[in-house]
Amino acid sequence: MHSLFVLLSLSLAAAEDGLNAWLRYAPVQNSSYRSLPSSIIALNATKTSPVYVAGQELQKGIKGILGKQLPITNGTGRDSSIIVGTLDAYEKRFGEFDKAEDLEEDGFWLSTEGRDVRIVGQNERAALYGAFEYLSRLGQGKLSAVSYVSNPHAPIRWVNEWNNPDGSIERGYAGPSIFFKNGAVVDDLTRATEYARLLASIRINGIVVNNVNADPHLLSPYNISGFGRLADAIRPYGIQLGIALNFAAPERYGGLPTSDPLNPSVITWWTNVTNQIYKRIPDMAGYLIKANSEGQPGPLTYNRTLADGANLWAKAVKPYGGTVMFRAFVYDNHLDYTNWKNDRANGAVDYFKHLDGKFDDNVVIQIKYGPIDFQVREPPSPLFSTLRKTSTAIELQVTQEYLGQQDHLVYLAPLWKEILEFDLRADDRPSKVKDIISSQRFNRPLGGSAAVVNVGTNTTWLGSHLAMSNLYAYGRLAWDPSGDSVEILQDWIRLTFGFDRKVIDTITEMSMKSWPAYENYSGNLGIQTLTDITGNHYGPNPASQDNNGWGQWTRADKKTIGMDRTVKNGTGNAGQYPPAIAQRFENIETTPDNLLLWFHHVNYTHRLKSNKTVIQHFYDAHYEGAETAQTFVKMWESLKGKIDTERYNRVLFKQIYQAGHALVWRDAINQFYYNLSEIPDEAKRVGNHPYRVEAESMTLTGYKKYLVTPFHAASKYTAIITTSNNTAGTVTAKLNFTSGTYDLAVNYYDLIGGRSKWEVFLNNRTVGTWRGDSEDKLGHALTLLPDGHSATRITFKGVNIAQGDTLKIVGTPDGIEPAPLDYISLLPPGIVD
Ligand SMILES: *[C@@H]1O[C@H](CO)[C@@H](O)[C@H](O)[C@H]1NC(C)=O
Ligand SMILES: *[C@@H]1O[C@H](CO)[C@@H](O)[C@H](O)[C@H]1NC(C)=O
Ligand SMILES: *[C@@H]1O[C@H](CO)[C@@H](O)[C@H](O)[C@H]1NC(C)=O
Ligand SMILES: *[C@@H]1O[C@H](CO)[C@@H](O)[C@H](O)[C@H]1NC(C)=O
Ligand SMILES: *[C@@H]1O[C@H](CO)[C@@H](O)[C@H](O)[C@H]1NC(C)=O
Ligand SMILES: *[C@@H]1O[C@H](CO)[C@@H](O)[C@H](O)[C@H]1NC(C)=O
Ligand SMILES: *[C@@H]1O[C@H](CO)[C@@H](O)[C@H](O)[C@H]1NC(C)=O
Ligand SMILES: *[C@@H]1O[C@H](CO)[C@@H](O)[C@H](O)[C@H]1NC(C)=O
Ligand SMILES: *[C@@H]1O[C@H](CO)[C@@H](O)[C@H](O)[C@H]1NC(C)=O
Ligand SMILES: *[C@@H]1O[C@H](CO)[C@@H](O)[C@H](O)[C@H]1NC(C)=O
Ligand SMILES: *[C@@H]1O[C@H](CO)[C@@H](O)[C@H](O)[C@H]1NC(C)=O
Ligand SMILES: *[C@@H]1O[C@H](CO)[C@@H](O)[C@H](O)[C@H]1NC(C)=O
Repeated sequence: MHSLFVLLSLSLAAAEDGLNAWLRYAPVQNSSYRSLPSSIIALNATKTSPVYVAGQELQKGIKGILGKQLPITNGTGRDSSIIVGTLDAYEKRFGEFDKAEDLEEDGFWLSTEGRDVRIVGQNERAALYGAFEYLSRLGQGKLSAVSYVSNPHAPIRWVNEWNNPDGSIERGYAGPSIFFKNGAVVDDLTRATEYARLLASIRINGIVVNNVNADPHLLSPYNISGFGRLADAIRPYGIQLGIALNFAAPERYGGLPTSDPLNPSVITWWTNVTNQIYKRIPDMAGYLIKANSEGQPGPLTYNRTLADGANLWAKAVKPYGGTVMFRAFVYDNHLDYTNWKNDRANGAVDYFKHLDGKFDDNVVIQIKYGPIDFQVREPPSPLFSTLRKTSTAIELQVTQEYLGQQDHLVYLAPLWKEILEFDLRADDRPSKVKDIISSQRFNRPLGGSAAVVNVGTNTTWLGSHLAMSNLYAYGRLAWDPSGDSVEILQDWIRLTFGFDRKVIDTITEMSMKSWPAYENYSGNLGIQTLTDITGNHYGPNPASQDNNGWGQWTRADKKTIGMDRTVKNGTGNAGQYPPAIAQRFENIETTPDNLLLWFHHVNYTHRLKSNKTVIQHFYDAHYEGAETAQTFVKMWESLKGKIDTERYNRVLFKQIYQAGHALVWRDAINQFYYNLSEIPDEAKRVGNHPYRVEAESMTLTGYKKYLVTPFHAASKYTAIITTSNNTAGTVTAKLNFTSGTYDLAVNYYDLIGGRSKWEVFLNNRTVGTWRGDSEDKLGHALTLLPDGHSATRITFKGVNIAQGDTLKIVGTPDGIEPAPLDYISLLPPGIVD
């Protein structure tokens, strides 16, 4: 009996590995489901048709949700049916259809009124979207009779996967590629098809599968046939394949002496390559190009314009209906820091403004949401309002490159909404970013969105169960940017975790607080994510921003901080916006606090609208953000028993990790600016940690002091490491704390290259033991040395301690990981430090 129960619960748990994401089709009990039709009619019997797939999906979904196996028939019987098909097929079969006029490209009509459920798509993929919509309603218990048309806001709804042919993924945090391995497309495309299914359910219609830093060898005939197999694998889900190109491929792969986009042999070469690709993939979506970016060659290398380059490919794909997505991420990465007027944020407008109107009509300029690079807060890129005669798309990131790399919870829909809803007031008329990219504002033929997603082979797709709300929300907002962040989130929660009110409320609260919390503890007031910008973009390293050519500057010195982007005294970036917005950002009084340091260079003592000084706001915000991150753990723990064990444990692990790393962020940033400005924290917290015992102040045996770089990534700048790679070290300290119950926190560093073991004792009695094995449990890439990325905390709760007890930690190194330790904290109830 007992073992049977264990088996059963194990198999239930194993099913919740995340693979089905929001398409779990978990059973729903609801007596109102009785009126369900008794068969499914899919108006296309070709197995590769999205309509056929829609029939299969309806059958599978209804089986899961309601436990009923509906036959897929050809409608010969008299019973009520769920009918799914294209407009044409529907009209052919059932006669004229009165909603036909309302359907736009990719749009569908869903009606559950009357005897039948009718799902009619303007095209094949649209019929599949409608089927997923119906299943989403069923799965959420939304059973009222409805009849509505849903049309997309914009035609381009793509994802970009930065996958390399060797299977690695740039800024990917969920294991290796599902598309490539060993230089070619993988043989087994099961995961690619499963991914297409997920994407179709959120109405994504294009995947660029390879990295924008593209390998030219992907254009070989062998690899083109690989792309062809990939395209075949995703086509039944109505998704088209796109390919990222390497500008220099004519030279680097084709053997030509030049890649000059106006050279006839180069044009012939690209045209031939394009013809070869379309021969194999007649519906190829188009190309994505990163050129003259971050040191790479491009048209400018040959004194040609960026438009000369873009139009070359545009002409090649034009006969096939293809699109060229040309990235606006063009900037000089060797900017002279000593020139006050230099500004990377000006790059996009500087490079593209004079080209407006020069691009072919199947070119779309793909613009990152802000002028720099996916920072925790940026104003919208001014390029959106600059290009009036050019189609544009917004580039977002589902992959959390600068936002915790899926090891911190950050629900991104609110960030994206701020950008999409931002009114740029072009010509003093309403000009929301969402209406510019959907071509409603400037009346362009194309437009839409692209998100960098970077799914990997991990069954959770993104490396984190909770991060999947971002992928879901991206699709929803690409279809309808007026969607509400909370409503979208709660649809996702119901489909992913079920209907329990407490589950919905708790995950909603955690998610909605997550971006503000991350902003608070990473980089606030528009100063950007204060991470290691020349490295992995993960942990704190504010010093890395300045004094280099990359232009993600903060211009922090002893007295002042912030980028002066004014026209009157700075880089002039504010002046790139239309007049009403330019004026708002030019003037410090009308610049919102959350973008103050983006646009203005001020004293640390400058008073915000809150009447706090900038420096005190830094201190307070970092404390507040880190504290919020602690509450996520408690919130998640309150769901124990309401969520399957597998996902409960995985998420709990991440939330505990995040809570610890948020403190690392808080202390590093606060120490850095305190050290620089020497202005003390009014609340006396910064640099003052009465609950801590520094490892370097304990009695060390087989351990030695280690000065951490950057210095602020260690409490009191110093950590300890074992003196030998193969012998355990020991630290001891007599504790001088009032007897009582404490949470014992240990801050250590978890490096790549070893899984050290630590054991902590009180008076020789084991309190706990752990390993430095984050490489097996976290998604971001670990570093080799103690730093802001590798700093980690483990907490042992409710430890009884008496005055004078001896604490001992034994650290056993492993490989090149020397069991590093920073400090311990004895925290009375309710204290986090
Ligand atoms: C059925 O689907 C196939 C594959 O997508 C398509 O080529 C064909 O046109 C469709 N037939 C009808 C009648 O829609
Ligand atoms: C389904 O029925 C329609 C109309 O009766 C017919 O034209 C079509 O060939 C049938 N399809 C199949 C797969 O039986
Ligand atoms: C069952 O369906 C009805 C009608 O749509 C709805 O009001 C009710 O909330 C649903 N109950 C559950 C448990 O989903
Ligand atoms: C076009 O490309 C194919 C495949 O790489 C190659 O075999 C062929 O020689 C090329 N044709 C021209 C005219 O370059
Ligand atoms: C581009 O123009 C510059 C300045 O006119 C010139 O020095 C350079 O040689 C040119 N480069 C090419 C590739 O034509
Ligand atoms: C104006 O710019 C100079 C650098 O050219 C800078 O040193 C100064 O602080 C700026 N003034 C203000 C008020 O921001
Ligand atoms: C900083 O404060 C000093 C002295 O109060 C003032 O002269 C200076 O203009 C301020 N600098 C900025 C950038 O506001
Ligand atoms: C702002 O704070 C300062 C320092 O505490 C105080 O002197 C001043 O009166 C405050 N100003 C307002 C408007 O509250
Ligand atoms: C222990 O802590 C108390 C109170 O903080 C302090 O007065 C005393 O000097 C400490 N004793 C030792 C041995 O550090
Ligand atoms: C812990 O064990 C060591 C070695 O067995 C012994 O010397 C030491 O006194 C013990 N410490 C305490 C606090 O019991
Ligand atoms: C997924 O990633 C987690 C760590 O983030 C790891 O523990 C787990 O084993 C991975 N699972 C698969 C199937 O790759
Ligand atoms: C010991 O660790 C250090 C770095 O901590 C490393 O440089 C060295 O190669 C390691 N030695 C061995 C034998 O692993």
